[in-house]
Parts: sequence; C-alpha cells; structure tokens
Amino acid sequence: MLTAAAVAVAVAALLIGFPRWLPGRVVALRGWVFTRINGDESIPVPGELIGVDRFREVYSHPAASGRSRGAALSDLFWYWLSPGPEMHQEHLEAGERYDAVALVTRRIMSVPRTRAEELTRRCVTRALRDRRGMVRLRDMLMPVWAEFSYELVFGEPCPPHARDLIVGNADDVVTTLKFCGLRHMDRRERLTAYLVESLPRVRHELPAGLTARERALYLQGAFFNTAVVQMSEAVAHVLMALARHPDVQDRARDGDDRYLDQVVSETLRLYPLFGIAHRITTGDIPLGDGGTIPAGSVLCFDYPAFHRAGFPDPERFDPGRFAPGHAPRRELNHIPFGMPANRPCPAARLAPLAMRVAVRETLRACRLDSTASHTRSLPNRGPCLLTPLGAARRGPVRRLTLLYMWFRDGWEDLWRSLVQLVLGTYMVWDAHRSRPCERHFSGGLTPRAGE
Ligand code: HEM
Repeated sequence: MLTAAAVAVAVAALLIGFPRWLPGRVVALRGWVFTRINGDESIPVPGELIGVDRFREVYSHPAASGRSRGAALSDLFWYWLSPGPEMHQEHLEAGERYDAVALVTRRIMSVPRTRAEELTRRCVTRALRDRRGMVRLRDMLMPVWAEFSYELVFGEPCPPHARDLIVGNADDVVTTLKFCGLRHMDRRERLTAYLVESLPRVRHELPAGLTARERALYLQGAFFNTAVVQMSEAVAHVLMALARHPDVQDRARDGDDRYLDQVVSETLRLYPLFGIAHRITTGDIPLGDGGTIPAGSVLCFDYPAFHRAGFPDPERFDPGRFAPGHAPRRELNHIPFGMPANRPCPAARLAPLAMRVAVRETLRACRLDSTASHTRSLPNRGPCLLTPLGAARRGPVRRLTLLYMWFRDGWEDLWRSLVQLVLGTYMVWDAHRSRPCERHFSGGLTPRAGE
C-alpha cells in the first residue's frame, strides 16, 4: 500500500517537476552542437582577451566596423533574414549605399513625439479591444507594431490585408531566429511583392540608385521585419516582467512615467533584445598592453554578459537601479540600443516613448499575470493571463487558470526545446551549406528566395 502511494507521489512529482529542469539541459546540449558546427572563429567580448572594462572602448573603435563580410556567423544571419539580407541596413557594409539607406531610416523615424504617442495609443487600443484571457503577448503585439510601422512608412492607416502580410513575414523571421520553426519563403516573398507594388504610395523619398525590388527589400528588412519584431519582443518582455512582479505592476499602474521608464530600462538590462552583436575588424585594434586584435577578427559583443557586470545581484529584476540618485546612466553597463559610436539603433529615441505608451495603455486596461518561464529569447511568446481591470476574475478561477497555464507551459518548454534542437541543427547546417553571405561577396550573387 505504502509502495503504491510512494509510486503515485513519484509519478506526480515527475509529471509536475519533469519539464522544469529538462529544457535547461537541452539548451546546454544545443549550445554544444552549435559550437561544434560554427567552429571557433570568434572572440567573445567580454572574455579572456577583452574584459568588461574595455567593452565600450573596443565596440566604439573605428576598426570594429565590418558588418557581414568575412564571418561564418553572417551566413546564419543572412539565412534568417532572407529575402534581401544584402539590403538590410543592419548588414550593409559602410559606404554610399549604407549612408543612403541610413539617412532614409532616420528621416522616417523622425516623427514628432506627440504624433508617435497618438499613433501608438491608437494601434494598442485596437489590439486590446478584443484580447482578454490567456494570450501570447508577442502574438498580441505583432499587429500593433505592423500597423505602427506601416503608418510611419505610408503615412496612412494600415489595411488589414497589409497588416496580415507584415505579421506573416515578421513572425516567420522571428520564429526561425529562435529555432522554433523553419523558413516559409512564400510568406516573406508575398510581402516583398506587395511592397514593390506599393512603392509609389510611400510618403518618403527612398534611397537613390536602388532598383524597385531593392527598395522594397530595404523597407521590408528595417520596417516590416526588424521594427515589428523588436518592438513586439521589447513590449512583451516588459509586460511579462510586470506580470511576474505584481508589486512592480501595481506601482507602475499608479506611478508616473518616470517609474515606467525605470521598468523599461531594467527590463532591457535583464532581457536585452540582442544576445550577440558581431563585428568584423577592418584594421588592427591595439589593446594597450602590447596585444592587438588583428584585422579580420570576428568580435562577438555579448549584451547579456555586459548588462550583468557591475550590478549587484544582477539576476534580480529591480527597476530601482535606474531611479534618480543612482549612478548616471552613461556610467552603467547598459546599452540596450547599441553603442552610439558604432551604428546604434536608429529607433533609440522613438522606441522608448512608444513602448511607454503601449505599456501604460495595457496597464490601464488589464491586470497581467503569468506563471510561465521568462527568458531572454522568449521562445514561448510570453504566455499571460489578461484580466480586464473593471471585471476582475474571482480569486479561485484566476488561480486555477494560472495553475493550468503553469502546467501547460512547463510541458511546452520541454517539447519546444527538443524541436529547437532538431530544427536549429538543420538550419545551421543549411545556412553553412548555402552560404548566402559568402556567395554574395565572392561572386556578386544575390541570394533569392529559398537559398
Ligand atoms: C526596443 C526596441 C529596440 C531595441 C532594444 C533595439 C536594439 C538595437 C541594437 C542594440 C542595435 C545595434 C546592434 C549592433 O550593434 O549590431 C540595433 C540596430 C538597429 N536597429 Fe534596433 N532596436 C529596437 C527597435 C528598432 C526599431 C523600431 C527599428 C526600426 C527601424 C530598428 C532598426 C534597427 C536598425 C536598422 C539597426 C542597424 C543600425 C545600423 O547598422 O545602422 N530597431 N537595434
């Protein structure tokens, strides 16, 4: 009898506890597999050669400026960002084409503050109107930022057909980036075709010297992929952090915008959107101690490691770190939008103020709860329970729903990590086989759909 009870308890413990520890092991195994496939060409920063103290100096060095050419890692990024990685601002090498593209991006992003706030409010309110109960935050937010980006580029409200094309493209890119699914080039090409057709309606002068397809690919890369993915992930991270820290959520709901800004800063410290940003050195970089980083090296700037260094108890979520009276921001190891001296994010001004409005509007409408795991790569897309503020669910119903979500999400974490392992291995192999970046630079070949 006792044995049967013990077995029942053991089985129950396994069922409940099993998924919680296995994904970590699978992630470690995945990391090992990718290191084997990727080879050992890169220099991690911070790392043995370059410490945290020199992170900014090396990242800002004029020779730390190559973006794509000469790194095996670039093949993987180009594979993920197809079609048109050669037109993506982030991956263009310095030169006339880069300058022309970066100028247009700056112009499109230079929206007056009140207009950006009004646009965000409108897009978020629409998305929240019919979203209650259990949601995936990233999925809920993608249409918001699709509409937002469309209106920045075209200067008119986004039709549902265009919104669906944009979300289909951005979701496909981010799903493959996280190894959660394979590429669907047909979805991405449908958006390219739509953009080529829609170019005459764009409200801004587009970069000179580009074909119609190149212009469409530039817009697709910066505004209908990166902007949509980054904003959706950034706001999903903030909402997840609030859902998992009810005390911070209550204070943010009642507090002023300065506190909300601290919450956003702390979220981007703990969950920076970039894991690694890589650069290929275009000249030698002296290290001061007699050593040199030779030209052609691949530097991998590790944002999570940098953002954790120099903060007491760095794993703890604590918006108070950014409260007035603490160290000035420029002295903190905190660069969520990159290094000002080395191709930082063109949305560094606009993104925080749009994020603030999006979070404020969500907090006004709902209470957020989540029992799901919250990791930087957010492969679970942010499972969350949204409860309208005026109609709070009764305690037991809410608790039961959260228990169900805890159980469901734990098992999903397990299943997904196995899927990621298999698909990730395949995609790393496929990218190395097709070498889109290397082929572009060696033979002038432009990668097309499916390559
Ligand atoms: C909260 C949201 C965002 C965060 C945290 C973020 C973060 C970053 C970071 C860290 C970099 C520099 C990476 C590097 O050094 O290689 C970067 C670059 C870039 N970001 Fe963002 N980003 C966000 C939103 C956006 C949006 C809305 C756009 C829309 C256009 C955008 C477009 C770009 C582009 C084009 C680059 C490459 C810049 C260049 O090489 O000239 N980002 N972003």
